[in-house]
Amino acid sequence: MKAKSVILTGGAGYIGSHIAVLLIEAGYEITIIDDFSNSSPLVLDRIEKITGTKPRLIEQDLSAPDCVGSICSALAGRDYAGGIHLAGLKAVGESVDQPGRYYRVNLGATLNLLSVMEKLKCKTIVFSSSATVYGELNASPVDESGKTGPTNPYGFSKLFNEQILSDYAAANAGFQVINLRYFNPVGAHPSGLIGEDPKGIPNNLFPYIAQVAVGRRAALNVFGDDYETIDGTGVRDYIHVMDLAEGHLAALRFGLSGNWDGVECFNLGCGRGYSVLEVVNAFAAASGQKVPVKVVGRRAGDIAEIVANAARAEKLLGWKTQKDLNQMCADHWHWQEKNPDGFG
Ligand code: WQD
Repeated sequence: MKAKSVILTGGAGYIGSHIAVLLIEAGYEITIIDDFSNSSPLVLDRIEKITGTKPRLIEQDLSAPDCVGSICSALAGRDYAGGIHLAGLKAVGESVDQPGRYYRVNLGATLNLLSVMEKLKCKTIVFSSSATVYGELNASPVDESGKTGPTNPYGFSKLFNEQILSDYAAANAGFQVINLRYFNPVGAHPSGLIGEDPKGIPNNLFPYIAQVAVGRRAALNVFGDDYETIDGTGVRDYIHVMDLAEGHLAALRFGLSGNWDGVECFNLGCGRGYSVLEVVNAFAAASGQKVPVKVVGRRAGDIAEIVANAARAEKLLGWKTQKDLNQMCADHWHWQEKNPDGFG
């Protein structure tokens, strides 16, 4: 009987909760490890409402020193097919102000998870990496052979984690690493029961626009309109979070069904970029709400454009995005309209 248990770190978060829903619907038994530092315990009830199953939970900071023993005890007694690792800090700007915290948490969580997986004899890890590892060194669309050169500690923490996993795989025959480099995740589950609920002022474009549309913010500040792009505003490769979640299941299956070990890396994006103003217009159309904008100066660290070449994921994982920008906006708005204050 093939092991059907999966360890899902950060599983109460925005992306993790969508992965949790699809894993449960695919018949996996999941255990979420989350400390709710950037998520709400309510999410587990919403996952149960969607799937009929409430995931097992270990409420724990995975980066905490000496947590491996207690986590292993809580996980004992099951065969684990794999680990899907999202737990970590993810705010680019904050990482510039707090590099030590970002490296301690993001690298510590990965090192602790590897110790847990070793004790449980779990040999497949799907890692939440990021397009931020590419920095601004490559022309778009960028493929997995692109030069890496992050421009902030958050991005370096992702790249360092990729290196840690690569070295670990080289030293442990049979161990599989699948790095998924996310572009810009947006949207929400069609039920509107789970979605993105950033704490404080949203750093990212979509949640900020959604809060303007629902009346929580007066207007969107457009960070610069003097880039060399279609309309001068930043261009990004937005990917629906449900497509992103499907990419994780495809990656897990690629590991479990394949007779390989070592490291594989995949870009998860649409391969199509949209500017800030294109997104604003699409969101206003999909939501029927006005989205006032104000053009201000560029944001430090921003690049003009980055778009994925996701052909490798299509070829090897049999995965490609299914949802377009209109669906991304409509589903993000459905979540925000049903949950004006997020999870409260
Ligand atoms: C998108 C565009 C901004 C907010 C970051 C991380 C990346 C990933 C996704 C984790 C840019 C513009 C934004 C606003 C704006 N996160 N913008 N006004 O910076 O591409 O990527 O989030 O993995 O790692 O780097 O996403 O949504 O912040 O910005 O004009 O209030 O929207 O300048 O052009 P970004 P974003």
